[in-house]
Order: sequence, then C-alpha cells, then structure tokens
Amino acid sequence: MSGLGLEDDLSDRWILADLSEVRAKFNKQSFEVSHHLSTHPLFQLPELMALAERTVKLRPDDLYYDMGNIEPGQRWDAVPNPKFSAVEALRQLSTSDAWFIFRHTQRDPAYRAIFDRGLSEIKAIVGDQIQSQIRQEDIIIFVSSPRRVSSYHIDRECNFLLQIKGTKTLYVFDRDDREVLPQEEIERFWTVDNNAPVYRPQFQDRAISYKLVPGNGAHIPVNSPHWVQNDENISVSLSVNFQLLDSMRANVYRTNFFLRKIGLTPSAPGLHPLGDSVKAFAMTFALATRRIFRGEARGDRIWN
Ligand SMILES: [Fe+2]
Repeated sequence: MSGLGLEDDLSDRWILADLSEVRAKFNKQSFEVSHHLSTHPLFQLPELMALAERTVKLRPDDLYYDMGNIEPGQRWDAVPNPKFSAVEALRQLSTSDAWFIFRHTQRDPAYRAIFDRGLSEIKAIVGDQIQSQIRQEDIIIFVSSPRRVSSYHIDRECNFLLQIKGTKTLYVFDRDDREVLPQEEIERFWTVDNNAPVYRPQFQDRAISYKLVPGNGAHIPVNSPHWVQNDENISVSLSVNFQLLDSMRANVYRTNFFLRKIGLTPSAPGLHPLGDSVKAFAMTFALATRRIFRGEARGDRIWN
C-alpha cells in the first residue's frame, strides 16, 4: 500500500494507513489499511477454540454463530438454526458452513491488551478529535467456514476490519446512493428492524470490492452497506469497532420513520438543520420518557 502510517516509529506499529486518506475519508468512505497482526498467537485456531470454550461457559451471549449456505440477501433472522453446539461447529469449521462472531472480546482477559493497543493505534491514526465522539468501543473476531457468505447489512458502528487468516472479498456500497440504500430502509433500521436494508443484485457492480488477505483490511463507515464472500479457506478477521455519539442523526431517522407512517414525506437528515434539531429533540425526549417508564438504562436500542 502506498502512503505512510504514523509519523513515529512505524516499525513498532500493528496498524498502518495513509494518514491523509484516513483523515479525509474516516466514517465517510471505505478505504484500505494494512497491519501486522496475522501471526499474533491469540488469533490462531487453537487459541480461538479455547476462547470459544471460555466464552460459552462465562459469557454465552458474547458468542453468536449460525450455520448454513447463505446468500448475500439473506435476512439474519431467517438463517436456519445451527445443527451443532458452537464448540462443535468450530471444531468442524472446514465443513460446517459456520460463521462466528466473538463479541466484546476485550472482556476476555487474554484479549484485553489487543483491545487497548488496537484502539489506541487507530485513535492516533484518525486524530485526537475522535475520542470525544466515541460512545462505545469493541473488538470483535469473525471466524468463518470456506465459501461462507456474510449477508448484506448495515451497522450502527464504523469499524476497521483486519484480515488475519485466509482470503475473502468484502463488498462495500456508498451509503449515500439512494437507489442502493433508500431513506426508508435507514429509518426502519434505526427504529424497528436491524435487517431493514434490502440487497439489490442489480446494483452489485456499484460496490467497491476489497480482496482481503492476511495483513490488509478495510475501514467501513457507519451505515455503509456491505457483505462478504469467503474463499475456499477458513477465514479469521479482527474488527475494531467504534460506535459514535451521532445520536442526533439516528434520532432524525427515527422521527422520520414515524412521520412517514402517518403519510408525510420527511426530509433526510442534513438538509434542514433547524428541522433536524427539532426532530432530534423530540425523539430524545420520547426515548428518555419511555426509558423512565420502563426503568431502562440509557442505550441506543431500536424502538421496540
Ligand atoms: Fe458489518
């Protein structure tokens, strides 16, 4: 990759990127990065098996997995139920058509140092201003069987997806292309349906494709649609995730969802700043009131 990483002691860094590109594109457009984590012992399969066993025992909600021959347009909530336990599916990874998400991996003490250093390197690359914009940080490990597809979706977080083992293709679409991602789907996503975005194969050639190999990776902005096709190999990736404090934009989408339900055609966030402020205030008030009545903690959950 062309360009430079950090100004100081590049040889000692895990994650490298073109600084001018990062600062121009962060959380706006996708771009490629490189890293030195592929040979790290904690990402090798025996260590990941041990992590799966600990996670199932101690924090079962932090290990998601499913199994099946998935298409890019498959809804996550319509994936067939797994035939084996998570540990067994991981043991049979080369044939089980499985996809694993190790969530909040930093909660495992062995992986905490990866979280600390990975986050701090990325913050240094992105710039100091990012710190005040972060609501939540996470590291996630994805493990998938040969040929397995991770279906089309958008996320609440932006991330740096670092390829550790195996090769695969990541397809990222422009989140501002309204033929690919209509406003209504973003509104539904933020309000009631994590699977709201619909994959449209006729626009597949509009995606930027990244051939991920051990040692490279890509940045994916919040709400940028993407899906992944694994090659004929087991794949391991590390995702360093940031959920940003952009609740105003999310609350404008939520208000628009309800306005559209009563027959109005609301304007998209960013077009009318005063209107956005009113919508965001109204939704913040409604969410806070609902939390008080339900006794919920503060969070960024969907409406229902
Ligand atoms: Fe994603």
